[in-house]
Amino acid sequence: MSYSKEENNSFFSKAAFGSDFHWGVSNAAFQVEGAWKQDGKGLSIWDDFTHQKGKIFGGHHAEIACDFYNRFRSDLDLMASMSIPNFRFSISWSRIMPQGVGQVNSKGLDYYDRLVDESMKRGITPWVTLYHWDLPQALQEKGGWTNRNIIYWFEEYSQVVVKKLGDRVKNWMVLNEPMVFTGGGYFLGIHAPGQKGISAFIPAVHHATLCQGIGGKVVREFCTDANIGTTFSCSHIEPYANSERDHHAARKIDALLNRLFLEPALGRGYPFRDLKLLNRLEKYIQPGDDRLMKFDFDYIGLQNYTREKVKFSLFTPLLWANIVKAEKRNVLTNQMGWEVYPESVYHMLKQFSSYPEIKKILITESGTAFKDTLANGEVNDPERTAYLKRVLEQVLKAKRDGLPVEGYFIWTFTDNFEWAEGYLPRFGIVHNDHKTQERVVKSSGKWYADFLQG
Ligand code: NOJ
Repeated sequence: MSYSKEENNSFFSKAAFGSDFHWGVSNAAFQVEGAWKQDGKGLSIWDDFTHQKGKIFGGHHAEIACDFYNRFRSDLDLMASMSIPNFRFSISWSRIMPQGVGQVNSKGLDYYDRLVDESMKRGITPWVTLYHWDLPQALQEKGGWTNRNIIYWFEEYSQVVVKKLGDRVKNWMVLNEPMVFTGGGYFLGIHAPGQKGISAFIPAVHHATLCQGIGGKVVREFCTDANIGTTFSCSHIEPYANSERDHHAARKIDALLNRLFLEPALGRGYPFRDLKLLNRLEKYIQPGDDRLMKFDFDYIGLQNYTREKVKFSLFTPLLWANIVKAEKRNVLTNQMGWEVYPESVYHMLKQFSSYPEIKKILITESGTAFKDTLANGEVNDPERTAYLKRVLEQVLKAKRDGLPVEGYFIWTFTDNFEWAEGYLPRFGIVHNDHKTQERVVKSSGKWYADFLQG
């Protein structure tokens, strides 16, 4: 299958989304900052994991990454020149608290202070994610997300960040994709810290769920006028065949991938009914936890890249194995092996909007990875532009249906370190030469800039 190289000609402008719609780009500390030991930063689980043999594609690591720590001013200049009004980034916990708790590294904290000020100086509004996967290694040595004490560690860390930045930062996100960091890191073992199996996964899920609520409460307490969200990965789930068994398997996967962290935050508890294996959580739930898990988020961050098809199989006790990979379905895929399916975002907007507790939804990540080539100083990536336009068409359709979608952030600004896949997948609208750190705005970036300029 091929994806038309033609950019689709659908015509819509920024104005169609309304003047209060939030447009932006997103990135995350570990994927761009580099400076892994600079200015007193402590190590994170990702520093450790990337230095273990065989964990990351090509043996890549992120010691330098995009060197954003040292180059953020010129990247902000570029962002401003592209008329990007909002920038979502995350804080590296071990940069500001090298041991995870206790002593604060003022140089690390000052860096984020400058990042916020320099963004605002250029008219760019900062949106801050408290946790985007880079847990301090010192805390992992105490069990990381499997240790219930993380609720105190995370509370302390969040307070330090919000007290320092909350006078200027008004838009917050607590966790980034808890399903991915617990599933990848504590069940499948493909992400840091590389643990496998259900016994680490289950407590990690519960403690992340608690931190999701606790983090929201910390932000509310120390930044009373904050706009507070948290982000969820999600994929539209469809049964492979129209059989009762495939429908049943699809419901389970939907509970696991799309509802496990969302529903407790909304005060609905875990989706026990659709996912029996969650009964194992009971052992970790303490009296009062329901209250801690729940938080009245001002908005929900929706992050969508693809859809999944699910087929029941007797021989696959592992839930994830019920997902029929895109490569086996003869569909167009991106560099991650994910099906290119822009309609998924519409389905997920519908699904999330069906919860009366959700007031607003912002798409805090959306994008795709295709192979790009730099030729004569230019990167022509019409496939990415076409994908983004098709997603935006779906977002507009949802908006016209009356769904409360109020923002769209492209993942990502510059190509960066894509976790287990290293630097191979390129998600950026700005090309990065990972050797020279030279940035080149791709044709998709030029399109986004034109679009934003109206
Ligand atoms: C979700 C994650 O939040 C981000 O870190 C990652 O790079 C993108 N998806 C693409 O996989």
